[in-house]
Amino acid sequence: MLAPIVKGPMALIETLISQIPDPALREALAREVGDLKKRLNWGLVFERHLPESTRLLSAPIKVGTVVWERRSAKPRRFRVRAIEGTTLAVTPEARGEIAAADALTIRIGRSDVLIEEDLALPVFPTLTSLGAVRNGPPGRASHAVVCGENYHAIEALLAACEEQVDVLYLDPPYNTGDRDWAYNNDYVDPNDQWRPSKWLAFMERRLRLGRRLLKPDGVMVVTIDEHEVHHLGMLLEQMFPEARLQMASIVINSTGQNRVGGLARVDEQAFFCFFGNAPAPVGNGDDLLSPESKVADQVVRWERLIRGGPSSGRTGHPGTFYPVLIDEASRRVVGVGDLLLEGDPDLTAKIDGWTAAWPMRGDGSHGRWRIGPTKLKGLIERGYVRLGSFDRTRNTWTIMYIADSTASLIEKGAIRVVGRDGNDVVQLERADDKPSSVKTIWNRSRHAAGVYGSALLADFLGERNQFSFPKSLYAVRDTLEILTHDKPNALVLDFFAGSGTTLHATMLLNAEDDGSRRCVLVTNNEVKDAISKHLVAEGYFRGDPEFEAAGVFEAACRPRVTAAVTGIRPDGQPVAGTYLDGREYSEGFPENVEFFRLDYQDPAAIEFGMRFAEFHPLLWLMAGGFGEREAIDPRASYALPAGSPYGVLFEPGGMPGLLAALAHRSDVTHVFVVADSESSFADLASALPQVRVVHLYRAYLETMRGAVS
Ligand SMILES: C[S@@+](CC[C@H](N)C(=O)[O-])C[C@H]1O[C@@H](n2cnc3c(N)ncnc32)[C@H](O)[C@@H]1O
Repeated sequence: MLAPIVKGPMALIETLISQIPDPALREALAREVGDLKKRLNWGLVFERHLPESTRLLSAPIKVGTVVWERRSAKPRRFRVRAIEGTTLAVTPEARGEIAAADALTIRIGRSDVLIEEDLALPVFPTLTSLGAVRNGPPGRASHAVVCGENYHAIEALLAACEEQVDVLYLDPPYNTGDRDWAYNNDYVDPNDQWRPSKWLAFMERRLRLGRRLLKPDGVMVVTIDEHEVHHLGMLLEQMFPEARLQMASIVINSTGQNRVGGLARVDEQAFFCFFGNAPAPVGNGDDLLSPESKVADQVVRWERLIRGGPSSGRTGHPGTFYPVLIDEASRRVVGVGDLLLEGDPDLTAKIDGWTAAWPMRGDGSHGRWRIGPTKLKGLIERGYVRLGSFDRTRNTWTIMYIADSTASLIEKGAIRVVGRDGNDVVQLERADDKPSSVKTIWNRSRHAAGVYGSALLADFLGERNQFSFPKSLYAVRDTLEILTHDKPNALVLDFFAGSGTTLHATMLLNAEDDGSRRCVLVTNNEVKDAISKHLVAEGYFRGDPEFEAAGVFEAACRPRVTAAVTGIRPDGQPVAGTYLDGREYSEGFPENVEFFRLDYQDPAAIEFGMRFAEFHPLLWLMAGGFGEREAIDPRASYALPAGSPYGVLFEPGGMPGLLAALAHRSDVTHVFVVADSESSFADLASALPQVRVVHLYRAYLETMRGAVS
C-alpha cells in the first residue's frame, strides 16, 4: 500500500522516492535529491547578478579603466587607452561592447572624468580627514562620519572594526518608486521593470558585507515601509537564518497618509535581527505601546551642574560662580564654598582640605553653575548630587544633580528612590520600572517623523527642506536605548546615515545616561534628483563645489552633526529649542566627531608602504578613535604617539625602542607592525604579547581582496 502523500513538490518527490522498492535505486535517488535541495533557492527569488557599479570622483586610473564624462548632462562612457600626465587618451565604448583597436581616440583631462568602479572588483579605500568638531574631553573617543559609497566604506571599515559593532542601524532608501535611490549612478525609475530586483541586489550586497562588522552577539535593525517590507523580511530571513528576526510597526504619522483606494498609512516597520546571544531589549519602564498618558515622558535623569551653550558665561550671573567641594578619595560631593564675585579662582587650591570643582568651560573661560550655592547645598543634603567623571577638557570634575523636573516626579511617586549608595546619594528608578518588554507596535507621539524628524532637522540647520524624510530623533534614540541600555560603551554603525539622526540620537542618549557609546556613520553626498537636474541645467556637475554643496553629506549631515555637538547653527545662531527632557539644544554635547572622505589607493603603493599618512586614520579608528591623531613619520623605526593607544613598528630594528617605550604605557592596546612576510611578522608579534598586533599592510590588502561581492 502507498504511504499518504505529503504535498509540496520536494516533499512529494521524497515521499515517492521512499516508496521505490529497489533499495539501491531508492538511496541513489534520495542522495541526488538531497544534493539538489541544498542548491535550491527557497523563498525570495530575484536577479542577483545585475552588475553594480559606482562612479567615483577620484580613484586610481590605469590603461583599461572605464571613465565617464563628468561635465555633461548626457555623459559618454570611455575606455582609457593611454595616460599622458594629467590627460587621458580614451575611446568611446558602450556598455557591453569592446571598442575596436583603431577606434577614434580623444583626449580628456583627468579631472574631467568620473571613474567607473565595479563593485565586484577589489578597491583599496582609505579615510581622509575633512576636519573635526571637538567639544568633548580630548581623550574621549571620537565618533566618525564617512562620506562615500557605502559598499566601499563597509570594506574599509572591515579593516578597522570587523565583528566590533554592537548595533547596526540601517534606514535604507525605501524604493517608493519616487526616484529615491540610485543604482549604477542613476536614480531608479518607477517604470524600471528591474526596480524591485535591483533594490534587493543592492541591499543583499550591503547587508552581507555589513553583517561582518557586527559582533557575534550584535543586533541589526533595518527600517522600511510598505513598498519593500515583505521582500526585505524574506531577504533577511533567507540571508540570516541563524538570527532571531522580529518586526516592529512604528507609528510615525498618526494623521495617516491616504492611499488611493486603500487604508491611510500611519506606520513604518523596523526589522530586528538578534544574532547569537544578543540580550533582549530593555524597555526602561516604557513598552512603547501602553497609552502615553500613563507613562511619564521623563526618564530618570541626572543633569550636569555646569551650564552649557552660548549663554553659559559667568558675566552677569554672579550668584552661580562658586566652588563645589569634593572628596576625591571617596568620590563624594561634600559641600559648597563661597561665591567668588570677581577675579580668577585658584583652580588647584584646596578649600577646607577638599578639592574644589569650579564652573570652568572647555576653552578655559569662566562658566557658571545652573543653580546657586544655597540650593545646591540643600540638594547635597538630600542625596541629590553626585560626582561624575573627571572632565579632561575642563580640567575639573563633572558634578551631576537632580533638577526640579525630576525632583517633582520623585515627589509625585512617578520616580522612586530605591536605595542609597555608599555616599548617601539616591538611587532612582521609574515607579513603573518593571522589566517591561518592549512591544512590537510602537505608538509614541515623539516618533512622529514630521515634528521630530523634518522640523527638528530644520531647527539645527536653520533652514528647511535640506533633506527629505529624516527619522524622528526619538525613534532612533528609543531603538538605541532598548538595545544598548546595558552597554554604555556600545559601538553603533549606520551606513545609510542621511542627515545623521543616528549619531545625534547616540549623543543624546550618552548625555542622558552619562554613556560613552560611539557611532560611525556613512552616507554618500547624493544630490536629490530634482535639484541635480536643476544644477546640471545651470552648468554645475558632480565634483563642482556648487554641485557638491547640495549633497546630503554637505548640506544636511555634516552641518546637522556639527550644530548638535556645538549647539550653534551653521549661520552662527544658537540652536533654539529643547530636547524632550528639557535640555536646551544650544547646550550641545561634550562629544568629539571627525568627518572623513573615502579615498581610493593604488594597492602597489600601499604594499610598498608609501601611503602611511592615508592609512593612518584607519589605524586610529581600529584602536578606538581616541584623541587627536598625531602626525607619524613613517621613516622612523617605530612610533608611539603620546595621546593615542597605539604604536607602529616600521622596522624590526625599532623593536627594542618600542618595547622600552611600551613599558611606560599601560594604555596601549594596538601595535601595527610593518613586515614583509608572515614569518617575520609572527616573530615580531611574539615579542608583543600584551597588545593586539596587526600586520601592515598585509591584513588590510587581504581584507580588501576578500571583500568583493
Ligand atoms: C532613507 S535615508 C536615511 C535617513 C536617515 N536615517 C536620517 O534620519 O536622516 C537613506 C540615505 O542613504 C544614502 N545612500 C543611499 N545609497 C547609498 C550608498 N550606496 N552609499 C552611501 N549612502 C547611500 C542616501 O543618500 C540617503 O541619504
